Amino acid sequence: MESCSRADLELGSLLGEGSLGKVYRTRDKRTNEEYAVKVLEKRYILQQQKQASVVQERRLLSALNHPNIVQLYSSFQDDRFLYFVLELAKGGDLGDQIKRVGRLPYELAQFYAAEVVKVLEYLREKQIAHRDLKPENLLIGDNGHLKLIDFDGAKCFAPALQGPPSSSSSRSSSSRETGQASPGQPRSGDSSMTSSPVVPSRRPPAVRKPRSRANTWVGTAQYVSPEMLEDNDIASYPSDLWALGCILYQMLAGCPPFKAETEFLTFQRICRCDIAFPNDMPAVARDLVSQLLVVDPQRRLGSKDMDRLKSHPFFDGVEFDTLPAQTPPKIE
Ligand code: ADE
Repeated sequence: MESCSRADLELGSLLGEGSLGKVYRTRDKRTNEEYAVKVLEKRYILQQQKQASVVQERRLLSALNHPNIVQLYSSFQDDRFLYFVLELAKGGDLGDQIKRVGRLPYELAQFYAAEVVKVLEYLREKQIAHRDLKPENLLIGDNGHLKLIDFDGAKCFAPALQGPPSSSSSRSSSSRETGQASPGQPRSGDSSMTSSPVVPSRRPPAVRKPRSRANTWVGTAQYVSPEMLEDNDIASYPSDLWALGCILYQMLAGCPPFKAETEFLTFQRICRCDIAFPNDMPAVARDLVSQLLVVDPQRRLGSKDMDRLKSHPFFDGVEFDTLPAQTPPKIE
């Protein structure tokens, strides 16, 4: 995509609303190409002290290049808003798809689970934990393949991809961001955003609030891991494996494993790992879910070695290396 500004885009329907902004369908008037554009209001980001999250999402998306992760084509800003121009995924999200059909066919659940495993393997190589993996953050692209979105809660352990220390994140973001595009894949449209601070630093550096359960965890109740409930800061790669266990269960059972009448009761069920399997869930799927939904993060299948997860009999017959070229199984 060419370098882009607000005037080049015709905004269309609202596609989704995240914690920090809205996503619209959009068209580049110059080329007629369609995209999704995430629009973030600077004033709101400042109010919520989310400058670091926004800068981080942009930095990570720029550095990631995977068929199952939505691509960032360009980012720019005007006086009031920040804009992320993203690959458009037209098929809705996995949560809607599960609601529509009740339970997914076994082969499709296996296919989607394998794609999630591939993404997690890629993120692990990049030393990134997503930490908000859920069906609503797995979009379905034109070709029926999954596309992961929403990296504003992710944690990156790779020094090269880490931002400035959080106490000065908004101030120093612009200089650190220059040149963060994916190696060998310059993204021309990013320049206008790197030339000035992503969010103007009108405030002194944010002082961190004391850590407590109440003010750190901002995820989604159903997919949150026990360690995230304990202390959001310690949650890492294994939290994504927990979420994968929840998603696999939901694809096959039609509802998430720890669903309860209130969020509090859901949290209680999560901490106790209180799961009941539908009688008709195949034993091999139950076994995989049981090995992912383990309270001790270090004992989850894949926490030390993703190959062990890929070798689980649930994935028998799956060719991981050619997944992007495969046609996803159809829903009858
Ligand atoms: N909702 C959030 N991001 C999106 C995207 N890239 N495509 C479609 N819908 C979205």
